[in-house]
Amino acid sequence: MSDEYAALRCALGHALTYLDGLDTRQIPATASVEELRKRLSKDLGNDGIPAARVIDELAADVEGGLFGTGSPRFFAWAIGGGLPAAIAADWLTSVWDQVSSIYSSSPALAVMEEVAGAWLKDVLRLPQDASFAFVTGCQSAHLVALAAARHKLLEDRGHDVEARGLSDAPRMTIHTGELCHESVARAARFLGLGTDAIKTHPCHGDGRLDLDHVARSLDDSPAILVLQAGEFRTGAFDDFHHAHELAKAENLWVHVDGALGLWIAASEKYQHLMDGCSLMDSWATDGHKWLNLPFDTGFVFTAHPQAHKQAMTVRASYFTAGEGVRHQVDWGPEWSRRGRGLPVYAALRSLGRHGLAQLVDRCCEYAQRLVEGIGELEGVEIVTAPVINQGIVRFIAADGDDDRRTNEVIERIQNSGVTWFGGADYKGRRVMRVPVLNWRTTQDDIEAVIEVVRSALQS
Ligand SMILES: Cc1ncc(COP(=O)(O)O)c(C=O)c1O
Repeated sequence: MSDEYAALRCALGHALTYLDGLDTRQIPATASVEELRKRLSKDLGNDGIPAARVIDELAADVEGGLFGTGSPRFFAWAIGGGLPAAIAADWLTSVWDQVSSIYSSSPALAVMEEVAGAWLKDVLRLPQDASFAFVTGCQSAHLVALAAARHKLLEDRGHDVEARGLSDAPRMTIHTGELCHESVARAARFLGLGTDAIKTHPCHGDGRLDLDHVARSLDDSPAILVLQAGEFRTGAFDDFHHAHELAKAENLWVHVDGALGLWIAASEKYQHLMDGCSLMDSWATDGHKWLNLPFDTGFVFTAHPQAHKQAMTVRASYFTAGEGVRHQVDWGPEWSRRGRGLPVYAALRSLGRHGLAQLVDRCCEYAQRLVEGIGELEGVEIVTAPVINQGIVRFIAADGDDDRRTNEVIERIQNSGVTWFGGADYKGRRVMRVPVLNWRTTQDDIEAVIEVVRSALQS
């Protein structure tokens, strides 16, 4: 008798083997592009092959072509490691395969998102009446937040941007800091505001935006101010109270990029860094970072549900969108989409408030030890010590070419195969970022990684 679900059983086996091996496998991909093309470019053939064989061959063909990003010693790009509850729920998301646009196409998924949204606002200490959407990542979260801001600021000037577009609208300005993530400018492009609308202001030495500089440059254009909660190199948090004063006086919409740092609200020890943050107008963060979800989840929240909804909502004659229930299509840019609330719900339930707080505190403690341990090695400069869970270091060259030396040492560390850090530019200098976000990382990993860096400096 044929086994209709043999492919699923094969996939489970491969998944468990992969996860079990994360601690010991080489982190970087080792297969060359030629090898991967040769293995994967099979003749499609007119006739298909059994599903289980597809999965088995796929697992064999990608061998050496996957990056061990879930490894407890992987520290690049600031990503978490996939909590077991979240991965399992992610599998079920595909199995249940719900149309997660409106309530009636999947009541359970709509209610799950409603509940998970309220939990998120609780742990992130955001206003319980804030609107929210589950999007693909922080990039899309910015897009939604800035679309809501565009709606509100132009509506205040008597302009209906959804109907009339931007051609005869007052020109908008986006004020932000020199350390702002590139995804904000990309959202401005998508929304037709253009990158010329962005006024970039200097940051203080600790990475905080100089709000006095912003105040001096305000004119009467409708304006958005983009702040950071946990800047991605320094971990800096902007001064939200100061921004709030400015926003009240000048009618600004203040948006917070909290891709990394918004989660600090879960920690008793660090939540003071978020003081005043709940007074802002919108917030964006990622699920694949500190919440340790698989990719495909970002979160956006706004203090202006009406503007948010008007910027996003849509109806079609084949929808039966009832009243008094949540329709996800009212809040995000997609029409058809997967039920991405499921892994969020599962991850939050598996952690609970205390589990999330412990995860946050542990990552901060490890990042501090890691930067301190690396910083004690000869030939290392700590550029910024972690405020929360990330710092940056730089490697010093005898001939003064520290940028070259930094790239060289990063490459040696990467070639070790047992740990992985990435480089970045910070204020015109090459640095190595040291973020810790993975739930799998242990104290032993941290100490082992310091030794790898020591060897890389010596070789
Ligand atoms: C501070 C910051 N904002 C925004 C983004 C974009 O997020 P995503 O890649 O999830 O779209 C990132 C990405 O790492 C980030 O670090």
